[in-house]
Amino acid sequence: TAAVRARLQSRAMATTAAPLPEKQKLIIFDTTLRDGEQSPGVTLTTEEKVEIAKQLSRLGVDVCEAGFPIASPGDFEAVQRIAKEVGGLTANRSSGKPMRIAGLARAVEPDIARCFEAVKHAPLHRIHTFLATSDIHLKYKLKISRAECITRARAAVAFAKSIGCNDIEFSTEDAGRSERAFLCDVLAEVIAAGATTLNIPDTVGYNMPDEYGSMIKYLIQNTEGGDKVTWSTHCHNDLGLATANSLAGVLNGARQVECTINGIGERAGNTSLEEVIMSLHTHPSYFPVYHSVDTTQIYMTSQLVTKKSGMVIQPNKAIVGSNAFAHESGIHQDGVLKHKETYEIIQPQTIGLPSNSMVLGKLSGRAAFKQRIEQILGNNSMYAEKLAQNPEAFQTLFASFKKLADMKKGGLNEQDLYALLDDQFNLV
Ligand code: KIV
Ligand code: ZN
Repeated sequence: TAAVRARLQSRAMATTAAPLPEKQKLIIFDTTLRDGEQSPGVTLTTEEKVEIAKQLSRLGVDVCEAGFPIASPGDFEAVQRIAKEVGGLTANRSSGKPMRIAGLARAVEPDIARCFEAVKHAPLHRIHTFLATSDIHLKYKLKISRAECITRARAAVAFAKSIGCNDIEFSTEDAGRSERAFLCDVLAEVIAAGATTLNIPDTVGYNMPDEYGSMIKYLIQNTEGGDKVTWSTHCHNDLGLATANSLAGVLNGARQVECTINGIGERAGNTSLEEVIMSLHTHPSYFPVYHSVDTTQIYMTSQLVTKKSGMVIQPNKAIVGSNAFAHESGIHQDGVLKHKETYEIIQPQTIGLPSNSMVLGKLSGRAAFKQRIEQILGNNSMYAEKLAQNPEAFQTLFASFKKLADMKKGGLNEQDLYALLDDQFNLV
């Protein structure tokens, strides 16, 4: 009716008239080489760290935390080499700027001085210093009062500034279990002393997404000088919520996310870079941010980190697991063959994976089976000719395939299919 048309028209006009909010840059801070290397059993050589850092640069990471220089001579050497050899690279980086190289330091002068020695060779560098703020850590680990905590935090940042570093990140370790009002006091002091990025770690992966998001919002709104700095998330995955918590942080004002490739890290790991990036990619209008990561480098980076760290990715890991783009059930395979979007929210090529895959198992249907047989035979083989001459043979072949698939765990491979064909045409 005319009334409905008028309503639709005015709604459309209202949609076009509303100005789009301007997106802000989200800084991707990768800590694969520092927190990621803290995964039990992972030790990378300097050479391997340099190779991974080069790939992180290609991926478009903004800040690379290359290590903890005071921890060992090897760590110092790796951070220094990365600062010298990778810090200046700009090739294939959409931001046009080189990757900033950061090193970690406890809130004490020797750590901070050593860290600066290692990172200062990079054109863009950062000292990342941290101190715990939760009562549990203050009482049992550091055995200091809240007042002492504030004094040490302020002094650490002031020292980093005094030695010539002008990009200083401060982390309130175990912020997820710290009192918010106290966090505001610590953070206001470090801002006044010269910190430029404030990182809020949920060190033990304790927070729920709305809790973490509301903490970020509260800190931004209630910390003196909070409007002059970049706020950052750093989440651990003990409850499987690291990505959700980091994204909640972004929705509440954080403009840096700390993460690792494949989500590797202490215990259950850190926020996974690929999950954050592909969430932003899949829901562009949901998040008020843009990023400079080249998503087509994700798969290759994930493979490199797997190979070098020796940490195998679980098959059902989001984005980069071997099953992330594999379809087994007949209904899904049939749907995907008709139109990919029926069961795929991301095109595999977007992350640099050449194609999806159809796993032939007991749930697979005729369509996927036929497609795979055609794929492996091509048009010219003896079997292709036999199948073309005798369409009923396909039905028997499919029935034998179902029987074998029922017995075989992990799906059928090419050899299994050839064995079925040999059997079908009595060539055994
Ligand atoms: O999880 C954590 O608290 C950390 C800090 C050192 C940033 O890794
Ligand atoms: Zn951490």
